[in-house]
Amino acid sequence: MCGIVGYVGTREAYPVLVKGLHRLEYRGYDSAGVALISDGGELKIYKSRGKVAELERFAESKDVSGNIGIAHTRWATHGEPSDANAHPHYSESRTLAIIHNGIIENYSVLKKALEVNGYTFRSDTDTEVIVQLIEYIRDVSGCSLPEAVRQALRELVGAYAIAIIEKGDRGRIIAARKSSPLVVGVGEGEFFLASDAGPIAEYTDRVVYLGDGEIAEISLEAGLRVVDVAGNETPIDIEQLQMSISELEKGGYPHFMLKEIFEQPKTIVDAVRGRINVEETNVALSGVTDNRERFVEARRIIIVACGTSWHAALIGEYMIEEMCRIPVEVEYASEFRYRDPVTGPGDVVIAMSQSGETADTLAAVELARSRGAFIFGICNVVGSSIARATDSGAYIHVGPEIGVASTKAFTGQVTVLMMLALAIGRLKGSIREEFYLDGIRHLCRLPEQMAEILGRADAVADLAKIFTYARNFIYLGRGYSYPAALEGALKLKEISYIHAEGYPAAEMKHGPIALVDSEMPVVVIATTDRIYEKTISNIREIKARGGRIIAIVDTDDVTVREIADHVIEIPRTCEHLAPVLASVPLQLLAYYIAVYKGRDVDQPRNLAKSVTVE
Ligand code: F6R
Repeated sequence: MCGIVGYVGTREAYPVLVKGLHRLEYRGYDSAGVALISDGGELKIYKSRGKVAELERFAESKDVSGNIGIAHTRWATHGEPSDANAHPHYSESRTLAIIHNGIIENYSVLKKALEVNGYTFRSDTDTEVIVQLIEYIRDVSGCSLPEAVRQALRELVGAYAIAIIEKGDRGRIIAARKSSPLVVGVGEGEFFLASDAGPIAEYTDRVVYLGDGEIAEISLEAGLRVVDVAGNETPIDIEQLQMSISELEKGGYPHFMLKEIFEQPKTIVDAVRGRINVEETNVALSGVTDNRERFVEARRIIIVACGTSWHAALIGEYMIEEMCRIPVEVEYASEFRYRDPVTGPGDVVIAMSQSGETADTLAAVELARSRGAFIFGICNVVGSSIARATDSGAYIHVGPEIGVASTKAFTGQVTVLMMLALAIGRLKGSIREEFYLDGIRHLCRLPEQMAEILGRADAVADLAKIFTYARNFIYLGRGYSYPAALEGALKLKEISYIHAEGYPAAEMKHGPIALVDSEMPVVVIATTDRIYEKTISNIREIKARGGRIIAIVDTDDVTVREIADHVIEIPRTCEHLAPVLASVPLQLLAYYIAVYKGRDVDQPRNLAKSVTVE
C-alpha cells in the first residue's frame, strides 16, 4: 500500500525519488507524485493518476531540479484515484508539501474546523487535512515547523507515516509515523527516507527504523533528531541493513513472482540456516529456547494472520496440536481485533506476517498484549512494525518478497512453523525421538526436492495452457493439504482473476459438489498421508460427476494416476511438509495461467502487497 520516498543531500533528488518509487511499486498503488524544492527555493509538485511511468512522462518537460524532495505512490482510501487526490498535497499558502500513508479517522471534523477558519481543500483526501492543520497551528502560534507538526499529530486519530518539506528550506525533511512504517537511511552528507528499506539499500546500509509515535527532523545542517509526540528526545539507534540490490531486481526473470518461486530451494536453506545443526539431530529457535516456560506451559496458542499467512497458520495449527499437544486457534486478525476475544496470561499469541506491517495483525498484537498474552512474531521483514511489537520471534529469512502474490514467504512460514512445532514438542517431551529426527531430515531435504519440482516447471506451463480459459476452479485437499488447497485457490484468484474455491475434499458432498460438471477443473492434492484412501474416494466422487481432475501426487503414486485426467508429480516427504512441496506447482499453475491471460502478474488489480490500512 502507499509508498513514501524522501531525499535530502547533494545529489539531484528527482532521479533518486523516482527510482525509489519504482522500488515501491510492488506495494500496490493507483497514482504517484513528487514534490521538489528547486535551487531557487521554489516548491514544485508534479503528480498524476496511474503508474510511476506516467508521472515520469508528465514531468518530462518540467523543471525537476533540486537536491531535496519527497515522493509518493498512493493506494486510494479517501477519494477516488485522480490527479487531484494523488500526493503530495500543498498547504493553503502552498509553502508546505506533504505525503502520507495511512488513514486519519477524524479528518472530517478537523476539515470542517479548518474550513470555518478559511482553509480551502483541493482534494477529497484525509491527507490534505494534516498539512492544513500544521500550517494553521504554525500561523496561529508562530511556532517552528517541527513543533507545529508535533502539535498537529496530537490532534489526529488514526494511522500515519508522513513526510513534509517547506518552500525555501533546501536542507530539511520532517517525518513522523504511527502504525505505518518509515525508515531513514543515513548516508555521508545525505539522508534518505522510505516506507521500507528497498529504495535506500543501494545508497547506504545505515538505517534508522522510526518507532511508533516518533517524529524525525532530518536536517543537513543539524543531522537527525528524533522526538516523541510529547516532545521528549529519543535516542537514535542506527542499524546495519542486510539487503542486497540483486534481491530487489528481477535477475533475468520476466516477473518477480517467477523469480521468487524459483528462489525457494535457496530461501528454505536460508530459513533453516543456523537453526538445524549439521548432523541434522537438533533444531533450535532462539525465540523458543529463550522463552522455554512460556511455550512449555502455554495453555493455548492463538495464531493471528491474514491471507496467505493465515493459510500457513492453519498448517501450523495442525503441526503444533499434533506435536506439542497444545490447543491452537487460528484467527483472522481482522476478526480477532474486533470481537472481544478471551485471551490473557498463559496464552501465546503468534503473529504471522510476511511484511510485518499488516494493520489488522498489528492491531491484534496490540489487543493480545493489552490482555497479558505473550506475543511471538513470525515475520519476514526485519525491523518491521509487527516484529518490533512482539516479545520474541523467529524471522523466516526468505529475503524481500516483491511479487504481490506471496510465494516464498508461504513456504518459509510453513518451514519455520515445522521447526517451531518440533522444538516445542521436544521441550515438552510430546514427540518421540524418531519422529523428531525424521522431521528434521525431511526439512533438510526440502530444498533439493523443490529444485526437482522446479526442474519440471515446463510440464506445469503446458497444463496451464489447457486450463487458461476455465471460468472456475475448485482446489481440494485433506489434513495438512487442505490449507495448501486454500492457498492454491488464492494464488489463482489474485493473479489470474479466475474464480476459485478451496475446500476440504470431504466437504464437497455437503454442497459444493453441485458445482461440478465437465467444465469444472478440480485440483486435488492427493499425496500419501494417513487419509490418502479417503482422498481417493473423494476424487472418485468428483470424477463420477464429470469433473476434470488435476492431481498433485507423489512421484511413485499408482492409484490416483489411473483416475485423474492430469497429474503433477512431487517427491515424497512427510505429510506435514507435503503442503510446502505441493504449493510449488500450484504457484506455477497460477503464474502461467495469469501470464497466458495477459495479467499484470506482479501488480494485480486492486491489490497491495503491504496492507497498512484496516
Ligand atoms: C496473498 C497475499 C496476501 C497476504 C496478506 C497478509 O498472496 O500476499 O494474502 O498474505 O495480505 O500479508 P502479511 O503476511 O504481510 O501480513
